[in-house]
Amino acid sequence: MHFYTLHDFDFTGKRVLLRADFNVPVDGKGRVQDEKKIRDTLPTIKYLLSQHCRLIIASHLGRPEGKTVEGLRLTHVAKILERMLRRKIVKLDYTTGQLVEQGIRRMKPGDIVLLENVQFEPGETHNEESYARTLAGYCDYFVLDAFGQSHRDYASISGVQKFVPSCAGLLVEKELQELSVLEHADKPFVAIIGGAKHDKITVIEHLVHKVDTIIVGGILANTFLKASGIDIGNSKFDAESVEDAKRLLREHRGKLVLPSDAVIADRLDAKARVRQASVQQIPKKWMIADIGKQSIAQYKDVLKYAHTIIWAGPVGMFEVRKFEKGTKELALFLAKLKSIRIVCGGDSSAAIDKVKLAKKMTHVSSGGGAALDFISGKAMPGILALEQNYNKFRVSVKLAH
Ligand code: 3PG
Repeated sequence: MHFYTLHDFDFTGKRVLLRADFNVPVDGKGRVQDEKKIRDTLPTIKYLLSQHCRLIIASHLGRPEGKTVEGLRLTHVAKILERMLRRKIVKLDYTTGQLVEQGIRRMKPGDIVLLENVQFEPGETHNEESYARTLAGYCDYFVLDAFGQSHRDYASISGVQKFVPSCAGLLVEKELQELSVLEHADKPFVAIIGGAKHDKITVIEHLVHKVDTIIVGGILANTFLKASGIDIGNSKFDAESVEDAKRLLREHRGKLVLPSDAVIADRLDAKARVRQASVQQIPKKWMIADIGKQSIAQYKDVLKYAHTIIWAGPVGMFEVRKFEKGTKELALFLAKLKSIRIVCGGDSSAAIDKVKLAKKMTHVSSGGGAALDFISGKAMPGILALEQNYNKFRVSVKLAH
């Protein structure tokens, strides 16, 4: 892999657009529940500030699908960043338009501007050239540090890199280095895949060829149970993925481990009535909220023989105390193992943080889908764009050394 890194460019006095991944968990009012992703970007931000550049930061938050969603503004993120850096940050309410252009024109070396959520613009996820050109127009250099989004072909990830010299930030460099140990992973290689994102089924499609066993949890497990013909009552599942899940079960049944029992509830909050049940006996109005005792034991049994383990996504609704046991027990169990253990993504790392076990893992990656795509050997548009950018600007760009 050949691409520019931070040390290749002299940023002194320059306008630098940094694409960070501040996609942190937020509550309904946009208040940040876990600050890890912001903290992860600090080394790159501090390096750039030490070079006295004019720093413009962009990020997405959630999936607003091209619309302005009040609860997904980056206002709270700006305040946290101000506190962490002990510096003033000018938070803008848009990513395009006259006010943004003026704000950027007026910046002096050392100033920091945080743009609004880039995914409020439909041009971002559609990777529209005009939006990518607008973003590129703000800067002399672009820095990609949003490892968690580097698997997306979006305007602020890959599109912008067509127009301006670009490099990887320290987080992207570190992630690629840490995850590359999995290219030749020691076997048995086991993945635990849970969480709520509906696109996880595509991850399984690729991962199944790379690992020996996939332990399934979360809403994804409900989808697989449904696909096996089990009546999952009122449990959440992804209707669009059921056919794919059926095919995966047909083709790779031996590799997929599903829960045999569950913690079930009549609602998914702290006031819920809960009980343990076999997945074969879920009453009509009840829902699966976590894996059950038997499944925890069954999962530990698989994990104890693994030489390499990756974990992406909690196996239950761990943010509600009544439903955290499965995720917590697996985290405690992983902490005691000697194998390579890599935790991927915001929710799983928040779960690990909650039980204060991050330091016991081999690596906690800031990317969920991104880390899994990298491990599966899928092309990563953000990283590919860095390589293409290097080839494009190699002759014309003036290097710092
Ligand atoms: C993440 O949280 O894994 C990244 O920010 C990617 O988010 P996305 O899956 O919504 O693209």
